[in-house]
Amino acid sequence: MKLTIKSISQKKGREKIAALTAYDFPFARILDEIGMDIILVGDSLGMVLLGYQSTVPVTMREMIHHTKAVSRAVKRALVVSDMPFGSYHASAEHAFRNAKRLIQEGGADAVKLEGGQAPMAKAAQTLVRGGIPVMGHIGMTPQTASFLGGYKVQGRGPKEARKLLEEAQRLEEAGIFSLVLECVPFRLAEQITKKISCPTIGIGAGPKTDGQILVLHDLLGFEGPVRPRFVRRYAEFEKEAKKAFGRYLADVRSGRFPSLRESFE
Ligand code: KIV
Repeated sequence: MKLTIKSISQKKGREKIAALTAYDFPFARILDEIGMDIILVGDSLGMVLLGYQSTVPVTMREMIHHTKAVSRAVKRALVVSDMPFGSYHASAEHAFRNAKRLIQEGGADAVKLEGGQAPMAKAAQTLVRGGIPVMGHIGMTPQTASFLGGYKVQGRGPKEARKLLEEAQRLEEAGIFSLVLECVPFRLAEQITKKISCPTIGIGAGPKTDGQILVLHDLLGFEGPVRPRFVRRYAEFEKEAKKAFGRYLADVRSGRFPSLRESFE
């Protein structure tokens, strides 16, 4: 049965929420089949799939394209699509128009936006009032990483911690159904998790959040420009892929592929 915003919310305090990114049909199908709760079509696709240096160049068109592929594959999980840089900043109405496209054209169940300052909370509130479920995202927010001093832990020190707690509460008041905490000290993540009523989903935020998320390519062992400490590799796909491609290359060059059994009379 398809998971809903309500069923995800009800997991808080009862059962950990498992989330992972996916950007295409085959991986989304596999994640759905094994019972992943939330599949995020993250704008991280700009870096892991499209070769951009950051998530900033990702467009609405690219997000819709990948969201469509993921939603075609998913029967049970909740599909959340990232609002790309610049798609929710000009005004709350602008945010609504773009979020509506991710839902109507992309087929997403909900959208995610980064930041917890008042304009972001206003945008989130407008979407929620218009019937679009919103996932928040605070801490290290990749779209504005340069303002934060790069890809660094956020919320260290009492003033910074208070700021993040306020952002979480502001977004909760705006009506978000869940909140991603990225690169936040684990005690602060635990404090935020206890303070707000919606589930928190951590990435580099320690074990006490209501759920966890990782970028699929990191989990599978694809090499990237950096290897954050919070990534646990569950496979060595890049190494395995290289071995398989290398064997194919050698077989083609030596004439061992195809055999007659792989050919037609
Ligand atoms: O874009 C993304 O993949 C994300 C997750 C890392 C939370 O925002």
